[in-house]
Amino acid sequence: MERTFLMVKPDGVQRNIIGEIVSRFEKKGFQLVGAKLMQVSTSLAEQHYGEHKEKPFFGELVDFITSGPVFAMVWEGENVIATARQMMGSTNPIDAQPGTIRGDFGLTVGKNVIHGSDSPESAEREIKLFFKEEELVHYTKLM
Ligand code: CMP
Repeated sequence: MERTFLMVKPDGVQRNIIGEIVSRFEKKGFQLVGAKLMQVSTSLAEQHYGEHKEKPFFGELVDFITSGPVFAMVWEGENVIATARQMMGSTNPIDAQPGTIRGDFGLTVGKNVIHGSDSPESAEREIKLFFKEEELVHYTKLM
């Protein structure tokens, strides 16, 4: 079954919308298999956002993601990577449709509430960066 890495960013945690975000993915029918509230270190942030190293906003990105706790999650389900991206909306909240997470709660491209893996390769890499295998659970969904 496909898995993705989702993370409520520091702005989402500060604004008390962890529950709202988790609820949307639960109601959609995806299965939560790992979650933790954590402080991201500079080293973890630099690894996670490694592909943006040359971008002018890299420093800002690392500073923001390490500025306060994040809520890191692993979700499982059919086509969860692409579907979660749709549910999140466009990266820049200005372009995100109402009804999407960023469309409803995002303010700026930097403070855009949530991160989600953009491909199976990044999902695998990001899950490994944030979670040990024993932190993920395996259970059968009954309903
Ligand atoms: P995310 O999905 O976490 O992946 C990379 C992040 O870079 C993206 O969300 C945005 O929050 C951030 N980002 C993209 N463009 C800019 C920008 N121009 N200034 C600051 N942050 C940006």
